[in-house]
Amino acid sequence: MITVRVPAKVNVQLGVGGLRADGFHDLANVFFAVALGDEVTASDSSEGITLSCSGPDADAVPLDDSNLAARAARLLAAHHGLADPGVHLHIAKAIPVAGGMAGGSADGAAALVACDALWKLETPFETLLELAAELGSDVPFALLGGVALGRGRGEILEPLAVEGTFHWVFAVADGGLSTPAVFRECDRLRDEAGTGSADTDVPTPDADPALLAALADGDAVALAAALTNDLQLAALSLRPALAATLRAGTEAGALGALVSGSGPTCAFLAKDADGAAAVAAALRASGTCRTAHATYGPVPGAAVA
Ligand code: C5P
Repeated sequence: MITVRVPAKVNVQLGVGGLRADGFHDLANVFFAVALGDEVTASDSSEGITLSCSGPDADAVPLDDSNLAARAARLLAAHHGLADPGVHLHIAKAIPVAGGMAGGSADGAAALVACDALWKLETPFETLLELAAELGSDVPFALLGGVALGRGRGEILEPLAVEGTFHWVFAVADGGLSTPAVFRECDRLRDEAGTGSADTDVPTPDADPALLAALADGDAVALAAALTNDLQLAALSLRPALAATLRAGTEAGALGALVSGSGPTCAFLAKDADGAAAVAAALRASGTCRTAHATYGPVPGAAVA
């Protein structure tokens, strides 16, 4: 039996370019891995690739072939020419489902690492990264962890220097948001504003030098001032109630606030661990979210526990 721990992510910068011909958007995506994470346990099975899930949101996790963990196991087996792969994957789910924290992608990355160990394949890390990119735009980062700039659709990664630990709070909403729907809403808002949404209309985004300096300096105040998410307007347009969540965390003393990825989870940067605990308690009492978790990062990517 192999257990792999895998982090969730928050995007401290999510710069979204125009819509490409292939349906994706070019990104300048600064991923940040946080300790809030899932655990995926792989064990031998003679019944093909099967899944189970535990945790408060387990009912919202699909246990069929659409689950990225199952797809990851199948892709790894196919890559190595395994004719009749068998594995049972149990997902202990702590990452909000459809929450903008790449929880499904995390499970895909964890399944790659867990099956690689269970089946004793010793796949090179570079190959795992390539397989991860086939599974989804956010899966390679869940393997890498830490902090990284993602270019292309998010899968071309460059690790970034970070000093120290940052303290975060995540406010979990009732229900998820569909990532494609949020990108579509972003395009619609750009068309409505008259700027256009195609990749010929929107300048290619780039990483913000002030944000990179704040990370390298371990400066939470400067990082808070530099947080940006080009999908935030779209997420707020689809889920206006998130404005009250962002306000509640800011009023509780968070240094900065933003929607995490495509949402609806909201992320708050705190001064220190005590500050994060206070912001989380205030958010839980505010009635503007289902629950709130204090956590920290950066942490490593998917690894055998
Ligand atoms: O790569 P992934 O399967 O996670 O992407 C899900 C959907 O999110 C895509 O089909 C696309 O609609 C949208 N997306 C995008 N641009 C990206 C990443 C994702 O438009 N860079």
